[in-house]
Amino acid sequence: MVKFVSVRGTRDIFLHEVKKLRYIERCCREVVSKYNFQEIILPTFEDKQLYQRSIGETTDIVEKQMYEIVDTKGRKFVLRPEGTAGVVRAYIEHNLKNIFPLKRFFYFGPMYRYERPQKGRYREFYQFGIEIFNEPSPSSDILLIKIILEVFNKVGINGVLYINSVGCDRCRPQYTTELVKYLNSIKQSLCNDCKIRLQRNPLRILDCKIDTDKIVNIPQITNYLCEQCKTNYEEIKQLLNKQNIEYKEDKFLVRGLDYYTNFVFEYKVHSLSSTQNTICAGGRYDTLIKTFGAEDTLACGCAFGIDRMMELVTIPKGSKTDIIKIGIGTVSDEYVSKGFEIADMLTQNNSKYIVIGPLCKKSLKSQLRLFNNEQCKYVVIIGEEITQNKVVLKDFSNNRQEVVEINFLVEKINKIE
Ligand code: HAM
Repeated sequence: MVKFVSVRGTRDIFLHEVKKLRYIERCCREVVSKYNFQEIILPTFEDKQLYQRSIGETTDIVEKQMYEIVDTKGRKFVLRPEGTAGVVRAYIEHNLKNIFPLKRFFYFGPMYRYERPQKGRYREFYQFGIEIFNEPSPSSDILLIKIILEVFNKVGINGVLYINSVGCDRCRPQYTTELVKYLNSIKQSLCNDCKIRLQRNPLRILDCKIDTDKIVNIPQITNYLCEQCKTNYEEIKQLLNKQNIEYKEDKFLVRGLDYYTNFVFEYKVHSLSSTQNTICAGGRYDTLIKTFGAEDTLACGCAFGIDRMMELVTIPKGSKTDIIKIGIGTVSDEYVSKGFEIADMLTQNNSKYIVIGPLCKKSLKSQLRLFNNEQCKYVVIIGEEITQNKVVLKDFSNNRQEVVEINFLVEKINKIE
């Protein structure tokens, strides 16, 4: 008999973990809805070229991490490794600029990357992403940061903000030339991956965990920024200062996706393992939309790594997820129909209550055992008192029980709560 287990790098999320995931998702939704972001539900797979052309042919994601699907007609699709490319595609395809006065979008869902699985790094993982189109820097960058801080504050996370500017098409080429010149001079000491990166995507070497000590004297991009990028970066820093938002400059922060221009950032939590401690990251990508054939459109965004946030969050007591389970017990099967009526009555205008039962063909004793195992707080027992419109309400927390008139049942439970 073949025994199936979940595929490496994927995981089943259940019990407390699923509550945590939904709690974080809900907190993110609550914050972005205050700022008029609109939800967009994206397909989980798209044309392979969409990702090759947006994320960049020579990035790790495109070169090594994409899950490819070839359909029966030989067409190549990819399980989405991220959400930004999909939002940009949808924005252009449906002319969303004419539909939404404010072009602010968010999405939530699983992403797929073929990475070496470990705690906080999965092959299927969840992101909550936000994208802002057609709004200039620095106000839109600061809005992103403020939203992130509001989410962190809500869920009780303390992250450290790292920022950098990666320049633009005008200044980055000159920086890259200088960088390659320097890296060639120390080529022998680079790791094997970086020797290849030197040919294909030298900026990525700045992000190499192995070669960090060798890049101490490396040319820094902020010294090569054109006037416009320099001014923009200064404006962002000034506004962060005025808003009392703490940050650290990381001159080696380049991000693993090629579409970024100017301002980039990452939020890290140092209590997590150093290779998976970025819990939210993003930046500007002012040229991406144009490269897909649409008109020049400013853009910035970021994505929260929900799986990593789950490691840091505890659901506060008294939050909405603290639902109350109520068992609906019946002394015999003749009361099952009444049991359904009472279950409806309890759940109909009250999202706090979850009912279990009625269950037929089980003794009251085994129903009570099940309700207890399911951690029901109360049990409503329907027996012969029903002829007087009454039921027994048992409180599992103290094992007390009393006869209650059905009309006052909800009121009674609410009062105890
Ligand atoms: P990213 O940095 O590739 O950016 O991913 C954002 C976040 O997703 C990471 O900081 C991390 O928390 C989480 N993450 C990434 N890979 C994994 C994984 N294998 N397992 C668990 N969590 C992971 C983006 O995806 C950009 N699209 C963000 C963005 C939006 N930029 C502009 N708009």
